[in-house]
Amino acid sequence: MMDSSVFKKRLEHHMDELRWLYMELYDNGSMFAELCDTMEKYFNERSVLLKTRDEEKEKNPDWFKDKNMLGMMLYIDNFAGNIPGVEKKLGYLKECHVNCLHLMPFLDTVAGRSDGGYAVADFRKVRPDLGNMGQLAHLTQKCHENGINVCMDFVMNHTSQDHEWARRARTGEGEYMSRYFFIDDPKLVEAYEATVPQVFPTTAPGNFTWLPELNHYVMTTFYPYQWDLNYKNPRVFNEMMYNFLFLANLGMDVIRIDAVPYIWKELGTSCRNLKQVHTIVRMMRMIGEIVCPSVILLGEVVMEPAKVVPYFGTVEKPECHMLYNVTTMATIWHTLATEDTQLLNRQLASVCSLPGEYTFLNYLRCHDDIGWGLDFDFLKTQGMEEVAHKRFLNDFYTGKYPGSVSRGELYNDDPVTQDARFCGTAASMCGIETALESGDSQALSCAVGLDIMLHAYMLFQSGIPMIYSGDEIGQLNDYSYKNDPNKADDSRYVHRGAFLWDLAKKRKNKTSIQGRIFRALDQLETIRSHEPAFDKDARVYPCETGQNGIMCIVREINGRRMVGLFNFTRADHTVSLPFEEQGKDMLTGDPVDMKSVSLEEHGFKWILSAF
Ligand code: GLC
Repeated sequence: MMDSSVFKKRLEHHMDELRWLYMELYDNGSMFAELCDTMEKYFNERSVLLKTRDEEKEKNPDWFKDKNMLGMMLYIDNFAGNIPGVEKKLGYLKECHVNCLHLMPFLDTVAGRSDGGYAVADFRKVRPDLGNMGQLAHLTQKCHENGINVCMDFVMNHTSQDHEWARRARTGEGEYMSRYFFIDDPKLVEAYEATVPQVFPTTAPGNFTWLPELNHYVMTTFYPYQWDLNYKNPRVFNEMMYNFLFLANLGMDVIRIDAVPYIWKELGTSCRNLKQVHTIVRMMRMIGEIVCPSVILLGEVVMEPAKVVPYFGTVEKPECHMLYNVTTMATIWHTLATEDTQLLNRQLASVCSLPGEYTFLNYLRCHDDIGWGLDFDFLKTQGMEEVAHKRFLNDFYTGKYPGSVSRGELYNDDPVTQDARFCGTAASMCGIETALESGDSQALSCAVGLDIMLHAYMLFQSGIPMIYSGDEIGQLNDYSYKNDPNKADDSRYVHRGAFLWDLAKKRKNKTSIQGRIFRALDQLETIRSHEPAFDKDARVYPCETGQNGIMCIVREINGRRMVGLFNFTRADHTVSLPFEEQGKDMLTGDPVDMKSVSLEEHGFKWILSAF
């Protein structure tokens, strides 16, 4: 029975720790009491269906670690116009084996200052052109009926300047000003700027915005219209937790906490990854476990590996359920450009050495740029210096480097640090766009093969693979954003084009680009979801092939061994593996001699054997 005794039991379970952390941060008993009462209110308002979902998932808390999990991220308007449109396309998503659907930001935002929806003007209202809250709740219910979990962003670091709090702050209401960071002393702004790096050095330089009507600066880490929330104010924490619970009650299964490392600020620090951030995430985890335990937290921590892993918390005091495997993503593209697998091997070894409880979300690219957050300490020992190497990678992927077939655009090319990030779809980065333009069918076939190999590598990793909508049919860069004044300044839109349903129809044709990629993914995903070697408890380790340029990953469980071999070079290779038994190529069904496995340029093999 899901009566209030269930709530009380869960609350009691976490009470001591939750109160302790809250008091440590805020020392405010009445606000804590309000938080607990309001949590109960959201528990009571939670639908019977969702409470049943909570009960089921509480019995299987590792549900999201299942080998059949497959994510897809998409913009509602790009994919299907609006929310009811997405509902009509659930059949297609099921055909793609998607059971975790990340709906990109859809809450109310003002066109022209939306940052792709990451500037939220109202946490309780859907962007009117996409639909309304009722339609959203209907969609999540339909998704659940179809075995699809739903993920949404919770943009907790900032609100839009058009959010009610910001509007009231702008008129000088102290209560609302205290929810943001207002400073009137330019010296103090300077003092912050001395230690806080910039996120958008070109498109939105600096971390503060001057508001002449108020005679104050306001902190804006991202765009000037995204005002940073002040979590030192318990009112902000409480209200944002209520927003979180409100959204959870619409049927969300995964809450992606956007830009989480940034949520606590202290003068004289980088204002990133401060210890209070972890206190807040830990409290959020407990609040979720008390009110809506089927909801899991996906942390967006785009930082170097040492900064990422702490967001899992500890086994006793967990924080996020899942984090992006961001370093692996960037390292994959580095490896392709350099044909040197040493760094990817190190990265793989370090991921494999982490506790099995830690779950990563694997991806080749997302809606954001690819930042070259590589292990430059190691690369330096290999003669790759940071600035020069980033320049090489950017030249390579924009297609400037001799022999490169990639296409895409730079993002936030910072003239001071000479740092730039990169934007492009997986297919364009693999050379499909270039080959189509030149009409070279051989090059096209190679580019498609490469695109499939990289997806096969991504799908071989432990964790949840996440495909960007359109990549399953090899969609290219879309340069039309340049004609839209609301988007033209932000090159990330080059890889956020509308889904092309006419192209998608061609997936049925085996020899088309779309058909080759779609069918290959279909086959790989089917193997992944059935093969025990992909179980979360499998032992996974990198295996040395003696050949730089070839990645080899081994997955073992109960006498079954699955070897993944991936050729990151433009040459054919034959590899000898340190295994005695015969293997079977899982894609062709052919027998494989482990002592002599051939790989075509940018080819791969998934080989199953028994030992
Ligand atoms: C996250 C989003 C990105 C956005 C930023 C600011 O990094 O992924 O798209 O610009 O947060 O909200």
